[in-house]
Amino acid sequence: SVPDSRRDVTEMTATERGVGLADQSADLETVLAWFRRMREKEPVSHDGEAGVWHVFRHADAERILADPGTFSSDFSSFMAPQEDVARFIKGNLLRKDPPQHRKLRTLVSKVFTPGMVARLAPRIEVITDELLDAKAGAEQIELVSDLAYPLPVIVIAELLGIPTEDRPMFGRWADALVAPESQTSFIPNPERTKSMAIVMREMNAYCLEHIRRRRARPEDDLASRLVEAEVDGQRLDDEEIIGFVGLLLLAGHITTTALLGNVVLCLDEHPEAAAALRADSGLLPGAIEEVLRFRTPLAPSMRRTTRDARIGEHTVPAGRIVLAWLASANRDERKFSEPDRFDIRRTPNAHLSFGHGIHFCLGAPLARLEVRIAVRKMLARWSAMSVGEGAEYHDARGIVGAKRLPLHLRWA
Ligand code: HEM
Repeated sequence: SVPDSRRDVTEMTATERGVGLADQSADLETVLAWFRRMREKEPVSHDGEAGVWHVFRHADAERILADPGTFSSDFSSFMAPQEDVARFIKGNLLRKDPPQHRKLRTLVSKVFTPGMVARLAPRIEVITDELLDAKAGAEQIELVSDLAYPLPVIVIAELLGIPTEDRPMFGRWADALVAPESQTSFIPNPERTKSMAIVMREMNAYCLEHIRRRRARPEDDLASRLVEAEVDGQRLDDEEIIGFVGLLLLAGHITTTALLGNVVLCLDEHPEAAAALRADSGLLPGAIEEVLRFRTPLAPSMRRTTRDARIGEHTVPAGRIVLAWLASANRDERKFSEPDRFDIRRTPNAHLSFGHGIHFCLGAPLARLEVRIAVRKMLARWSAMSVGEGAEYHDARGIVGAKRLPLHLRWA
């Protein structure tokens, strides 16, 4: 057979191109090689088998995210027409278009402000210390279950005022709803939403009860403030709050878990960067941005065309799913010099890891803060860390990150 590099990409099957591998997990190197090939040869590509269009270049991805009129985030027509599902998605602003998106975003932004996030810093410090104390002196830990997973989940649960004893339940719901095992799970379909409806029903009922309690007796938490929020006489109804709470829970933890693990992986692979960070903690914010670019936690962003849409030299018909590959855009040699070099001093660093445009990640300040605090403490406590045997990863066409990350430590 003809070697890969000499074959035209259009002769390859969808599987060879890196998609349609639903039963097989793809690692980051494989996916990055696919991205590189596609950015060059077929930057806008129709995959008939998967029924989607793929977009690989930075400029195209950015343009798609900047045009919600043509590239919609509303996938309700792909979902099961089911009451629990409808309730669950009503307040999910990630899946809303203008003008509903604007109403929701304005109201939740009023509550979920950078100032509010900054005030969480002392609590995040305490939670991180407690998680690290629990492993004090251990020569080996499993970073994901010991720190990277519990940290964002505890922070979000606390923020919402969820009692400690109910938190494991939230973890289970989140796992059931996200299940980023395969890229295809990102594309909603009636079968999958039907099976998720049971979890959604439980979560709806729980959140509704929580909101009712806060409505009756407000406390100092996000749920109470969401109940009270008002802009131009508009308020959030119970269902909108449920949807937003559900989104916070899901959007906030798998991605942040992945990012924290990715920092460790990048530093493990680039000891010179780890040494520079230990010598100058002022480099940390830039280093986290570079990790976000280099190992993009959420690989694709998904849209639906509302009309025939021109992307590059292609016309994508109305009603099609488009995957804008953030993880590919972030390695685009047209945008970044030496994109495959990990450079913690890279400026500017216009990565798309938190999205772009009206849906730009609302939780970005929180994710950055959590990871900054955690990494600072890890570097202070551990004089050396190295990734051990037995790491396990998500399918890199969905979440770029570790599910299990054993670490060998030397304590300072
Ligand atoms: C939206 C990534 C952490 C809440 C987004 C989007 C991306 C993203 C790419 C836009 C998706 C799109 O346009 O299709 C990330 C990454 C994170 C992270 C990489 C961690 C490293 C968080 C956290 C929270 C959060 C901690 C909240 C606690 C949200 C919300 C939206 C969003 C509410 C929807 C905003 C809107 O539609 O207007 N995130 N996120 N995210 N994220 Fe995050």
